[in-house]
Amino acid sequence: MNCIITTAVKPGSALEEAANTIAGQLPAPFVARGSQSLEQIKVKYQAEVIIAVTRKGLVAHTPGGDFFFHPSMAELRIKNLINGKDDHMVNAMGLQEGMSVLDCTLGLGTDAIVASYVTGVPGQVTGLEAAKIVALITGNGLRNYQTNSIDAALRRISVVNADYQHYLAGLPAGSFDVVYFDPMFRRPIASSSNIKPLRLLADNRELTTAALQQAVRVAGKRVVIKETRHSSIFAGLGIQTIVGGKYSSICYGIIETGRTKCSD
Ligand SMILES: C[S@@+](CC[C@H](N)C(=O)[O-])C[C@H]1O[C@@H](n2cnc3c(N)ncnc32)[C@H](O)[C@@H]1O
Repeated sequence: MNCIITTAVKPGSALEEAANTIAGQLPAPFVARGSQSLEQIKVKYQAEVIIAVTRKGLVAHTPGGDFFFHPSMAELRIKNLINGKDDHMVNAMGLQEGMSVLDCTLGLGTDAIVASYVTGVPGQVTGLEAAKIVALITGNGLRNYQTNSIDAALRRISVVNADYQHYLAGLPAGSFDVVYFDPMFRRPIASSSNIKPLRLLADNRELTTAALQQAVRVAGKRVVIKETRHSSIFAGLGIQTIVGGKYSSICYGIIETGRTKCSD
C-alpha cells in the first residue's frame, strides 16, 4: 500500500517533527504539506493512503473514508458497568480486577479499553495489531486521546504491532489469563462508516484452528472469540459455549482452559 505522511496545514515545527518521526517508524515518505491539498498530494505521489499528523491526532485518509482514533462505545460501556449493568464481553471473559488480557485483534481498541478499565491498575492488557497503520493510529490515540473520564484505562494498554500467529507461538503457556479474538472477516464492507476504512487498512484473514490452539496454550483461564450469532465459525473451530445478549447479533464463544497463570 503506497502511503505518504504529511501534516495539517500550517503545522508548526512540533507537528512536522512528529510527522517526520512517524515517517521513519512506519517507514513511509514524509511530504511537507505547504499549501497543497490532500488531493494534490494524493495525485502527485500516487498515494493510496495519506496519514496527516494534526493537532487532534493522526488521520489516515483512505479511499474508504477517514480512519482516526476515538473510543467509540467504550465510554458508554464503562458507564454502564459503573451503573451496575452487564457487559457481555466482560462476562464472557470472566474479567476481574488484576487479570491479564491479550487482545489479539486490537483494531480501534474499544474492547481493550473496556478490559483495561475492569482489570485496573493491577491488571494488564496487551493489544496486538498486525496492520501497521492501524497499530500506529490506535497506539497514538491510546497514548494521547483525552476522554471525559477513562484516560487511565487508555494509557494502561500496551500496543504491539504484531501478527498474533507469530506472537502467540513465542509466549509461554498460561502467560495471560484471557486471550481474546475479534476477527474482521465476518463484517460486511458497507456495514458502517467506521468499518469501511478499517477494513481497507486491516488484516482481514480468518482465525485458524492453529492460532486457536496456540491461544488455548497461552490462556490460563479462557479464550474468548467475538462473532456474529449465526456464524459457522464456532462450529468450525469446535466451540460449544456461546454467550451473549438475547437480542444482540453479536455473541462470544468461550473455551475454558482450566489452568491458572504462571505467576499465580
Ligand atoms: C474487528 S477489528 C477489532 C476491533 C476491536 N475489537 C475493537 O474493539 O476496536 C479486527 C482487528 O484485528 C486485526 N487483525 C486481524 N488479524 C490479525 C492478526 N493475525 N494479528 C494481529 N491483528 C490482526 C485487524 O487488522 C483489525 O484491526
